[in-house]
Amino acid sequence: MTSPPALLELRDVTVRFGGLVALDGVSFDVPQGRVTGVIGPNGAGKTTVFNVICGFVRPDEGRLRWRGEPLTRHRPHDLTRLGIARTLQGLGLFPGLTVVQNVMVGAERHARAGFLSALFALPRSDRDEAALRDRAMRLLTELGVAEVAGRFPGELPYGVQKRVALARALVAEPDLVLLDEPAAGLSAGEIDELAALIRGLRDEVSVVLVEHHMDLVMEVCDDVVVLDFGRLIARGSPDDVRDDPLVVAAYLGDEVDDSAADELTEGGTETHDQPSHGGGVGSEARRA
Ligand SMILES: Nc1ncnc2c1ncn2[C@@H]1O[C@H](COP(=O)(O)OP(=O)(O)O)[C@@H](O)[C@H]1O
Ligand SMILES: [Mg+2]
Repeated sequence: MTSPPALLELRDVTVRFGGLVALDGVSFDVPQGRVTGVIGPNGAGKTTVFNVICGFVRPDEGRLRWRGEPLTRHRPHDLTRLGIARTLQGLGLFPGLTVVQNVMVGAERHARAGFLSALFALPRSDRDEAALRDRAMRLLTELGVAEVAGRFPGELPYGVQKRVALARALVAEPDLVLLDEPAAGLSAGEIDELAALIRGLRDEVSVVLVEHHMDLVMEVCDDVVVLDFGRLIARGSPDDVRDDPLVVAAYLGDEVDDSAADELTEGGTETHDQPSHGGGVGSEARRA
């Protein structure tokens, strides 16, 4: 019995921002039907991995394969066609559209940012529209937020908006959904609910979960990739990586400041990042 080929492969991916090496020869596979976690302290390169997969950032070196085919020069608006959906750290919901309209917009094949193009993106025929609305409502029901379908995002608590954003990512029936720090800004109770939702997704869609919160990752992921200073320092099951000395060292100090970091802007700040990495693994490499 051979294992199915990886859905997505990253090979030797290096990304530089000026003199800073944000990713340093990172390679890993995203298998089908599993939840793959990408974790690491603030500044480790998690969002850069996300942006490389989305086509926001082009690797300086290395390559990606999607379903075994080279993935080159793809752009964010190619993702839906490829079968990849994403939710962003910011929610990106359209304030002038209702919840169900926001979800319906997610099905549009070449969706671009912008209120007008979002409106024009809605299906033309009544029958298409009805089918799409049904699908959107089914997802909102699955995610437990059907009762707010007619409301506008700005009227809703942050945790509810996150579910709407997730519904929008799923409505195009992607093969892979990328979640960038979905737990940011959520309460402990909301994170537990999110964990249950993500576990439920695994039957329908492969998931890449880019997440700073160790607890969420350990709870929901099948495979975990750990980054520190742009380097892959560990990979394996949650149990494998949890006790890995390199991982413990990378997170040491960072966890202490965790709650403080959450109150700052998403992604943390350099003033928070640097002290916690004072003697960290790989610091020389990254600053070289
Ligand atoms: N557009 C950019 N320009 C310059 N530096 C960047 C840019 N994006 C990220 N970086 C830097 O790359 C490193 C990795 O960032 P990022 O991928 O956002 O980490 P994480 O998501 O793990 O916190 C950080 O040091 C960050 O400051
Ligand atoms: Mg980030």
